[in-house]
Amino acid sequence: MSKEIVLSGIRSTGNLHLGNYYGALRKFVKIQDDYDCRFFIADLHALTTNPDPNDLHANVKKILAEYLAAGIDPDKATIFIQSDVPEIAEMYLLLNMHVGIGELMRTTSFKDKARKALGISAPAEGDDDEAFEKQIIGSETNKRVNAGLLTYPTLMAVDILIQKATKVPVGKDQLQHLELTRRFARRFNSFYGVDYFPEPYDFDFGGAPVKVPGLDGSGKMGKSEGNCIYLVDDPKVLRKKVMRAVTDEGPQTPNSPMSEPVANLFSLLELTSTPDVVKHFRDAYADCSIRYGDLKKQLAEDILAVTTPIRDRVNDILADDDYLRRVVKQGAEKARESAARTLADVREIMGIRKF
Ligand code: TRP
Repeated sequence: MSKEIVLSGIRSTGNLHLGNYYGALRKFVKIQDDYDCRFFIADLHALTTNPDPNDLHANVKKILAEYLAAGIDPDKATIFIQSDVPEIAEMYLLLNMHVGIGELMRTTSFKDKARKALGISAPAEGDDDEAFEKQIIGSETNKRVNAGLLTYPTLMAVDILIQKATKVPVGKDQLQHLELTRRFARRFNSFYGVDYFPEPYDFDFGGAPVKVPGLDGSGKMGKSEGNCIYLVDDPKVLRKKVMRAVTDEGPQTPNSPMSEPVANLFSLLELTSTPDVVKHFRDAYADCSIRYGDLKKQLAEDILAVTTPIRDRVNDILADDDYLRRVVKQGAEKARESAARTLADVREIMGIRKF
């Protein structure tokens, strides 16, 4: 039996951080033997925020090196760059004919990104959409919400559907896009009376979701939060970041509950350290003898033990352009093979036929 197809993409907008590593990369490495895995770098999606052309290419390269350094094996998984598969761009045009601008405008991610593009702050609870829509349509300044931002979910749906992927590991913030993908697949199937696209679902890794908090005391680690530890941070930078992490004034009475910033440091320690080290600091917290400076020092070293080998490999890989070129070429060939097949079918189904 052929293996189930797993697909996941990451936008090329900066280095990968510990959250990406524990939340995605490490899991991808574990499943690459058992599934037909296709991991790609979504550089076309990155274009929606109009990056500097030089940054775009450098970021694609960095992420590619980080994927490989983290253990994704190009002979097991298909690793490719989205823009190397022109079939995606063509199918994006075709699928857009079945996507409503209303449903796109109602997606949470679009609203967030559109607000950001227009420089308006988040609305209060219960604010009506009407004023917001007026701002988008009526915006006459040099600030604009580009159509690529609006159709971001179409492009993502095409990434998935063109590979006929059924399992798509994504973060919580992407579940709505996955839901739209299923809706578009059903709509296409029913409009043309075909049973063509399978419906993709989130990949269930089992167990509780991994929690990777940031260093700023609240919330998860995220690029836009500025609270990240990057896989390629050099030791000096990394130690400094950890030593500056937000804490509190320390436990005042034995067995007192932990504040969020301190609990977050323990979450990071649990990911990177050994159980006895974690126990040592938990006990010290419980009997009020803990010194956060010691905890942070330990945490920094344990994180470095995880990231240093990766960082070293990233640097080796980045220095080897021939290798990178080979990986990308091999990945593009594999990805294009299935994409071309799907696109040919879709053209046929929609009535685009050759003379
Ligand atoms: N939108 C995703 C994100 O920002 C990245 C992405 C693009 C993706 N295409 C995809 C993820 C297809 C999974 C499948 O995280």
